Amino acid sequence: MRVLVVGTGGREHALAWAIRRSPEVKELYATAGNPGIERIARPVPIGPLEVEKLAAWAADERIDLTVVGPEAPLAAGIVDRFAEKGLLIAGPTQAAAEIESSKVFAKTLMARYGIPTAAFHVCDSPEEAEARIAEVGAPLVVKADGLAAGKGVLVCASADEARNAVRQIMVDGRFGAAGRRVVIEEFLEGEEATVLAFVDGERVLPMASSQDHKRIGDGDTGPNTGGMGAYSPAPVVSEAVMRRVHDEILVPVVRALAREGRPYRGILYAGLMITAEGPKVIEFNCRFGDPETQALIPRLRTDIVPVLLATARGDLSNVRLEWDPRPCVAVVLASAGYPGPFRTGYPIEGLAAAEKELDGLVFHGGTREEAGRLVTAGGRVLTLAGLGTDIADAVARVYRGVEHVRFEGMTFRRDIAHRALARSG
Ligand code: AMP
Ligand code: GLY
Repeated sequence: MRVLVVGTGGREHALAWAIRRSPEVKELYATAGNPGIERIARPVPIGPLEVEKLAAWAADERIDLTVVGPEAPLAAGIVDRFAEKGLLIAGPTQAAAEIESSKVFAKTLMARYGIPTAAFHVCDSPEEAEARIAEVGAPLVVKADGLAAGKGVLVCASADEARNAVRQIMVDGRFGAAGRRVVIEEFLEGEEATVLAFVDGERVLPMASSQDHKRIGDGDTGPNTGGMGAYSPAPVVSEAVMRRVHDEILVPVVRALAREGRPYRGILYAGLMITAEGPKVIEFNCRFGDPETQALIPRLRTDIVPVLLATARGDLSNVRLEWDPRPCVAVVLASAGYPGPFRTGYPIEGLAAAEKELDGLVFHGGTREEAGRLVTAGGRVLTLAGLGTDIADAVARVYRGVEHVRFEGMTFRRDIAHRALARSG
């Protein structure tokens, strides 16, 4: 089989790593730009957002299966373009991807079908938003409607902060057109977790649970990032919680999307708050998580290629997933300044030793080759992952790997998996 991976981050490196191991795969290709991926896949000099060009290239090259990492190509209709050419691709159509690309669509759908989520109001003007803020009271959450690279969500401790957030989004246009409408949301108390699932239009095949660490600083302090580390499984998602996530959230939303004429095929990401009343949806994403994928993929014992094929074909009825019982912890190494402005071009040292320590679980995000050397090229530079006999062992292992790596300004959290560690006593 000939497989194409679209995307250039740590998540896509982890996916490419798993796909490369499949005996079904003869040729692996990936959109160019990630030196880690380019060690195992042939680079294609077309950007992830050039969806027409990618579809034409994949048709010419007779690609059997395409996997898409990031949301932007999905929101731009990459799946629709590939489907027009009769090409198999694991991901939702543009209409179904609105579950992520429009928070208003997602929240309205959940409300209409009784899927548990934070109470909310959709506001079309700053005046309306101010009125709702006064009515709901703090704490509350202000969200831009459209895609904002994970930065369009502001958790506000006071009404003043919330009014300021609305001004930034709707008046100053901080997120452009994505901020024409906002959602004002009830603040949910609890512990966050992620449940990803393969979905074939009808059936839902959940993956193991995981937990992300969104804030830049230890102890969950500072601004939100794309994610600074993750681990799997997340003990907060007990078997009973997982059953509720499946029955009350995943199955109903997939049915709802089908009923609305937007059948969902692809990977569905449920970002959850496990509250005292049970799991509630914070957000849906239309793709694998980054860095959750880097913590999940090393635990997946089943060959991922037939699973992705079954997802793309729309029949998961014969597919089962087998997981390594050992926990996995993934730590992101970022550039100083991230998620704000940062400098790039600093040489990266010690990767070979880290790879040896971690059995190869070193995933590139923002790196590039310069004069034969590997240098930093982005905010989230690398994700290192470690498997262990228990969570403490996995934590110790991954940080032993981290110790080998050096680059100017290297920034990372030292407390990844702290909640799981606390639970394991
Ligand atoms: P999102 O991009 O929607 O995942 O939001 C980013 C982060 O903001 C989440 O991971 C949560 O930590 C926080 N957040 C979003 N919505 C809520 C909510 N309704 N209650 C509490 N925290 C929230
Ligand atoms: N780790 C959060 C996300 O992928 O959206």
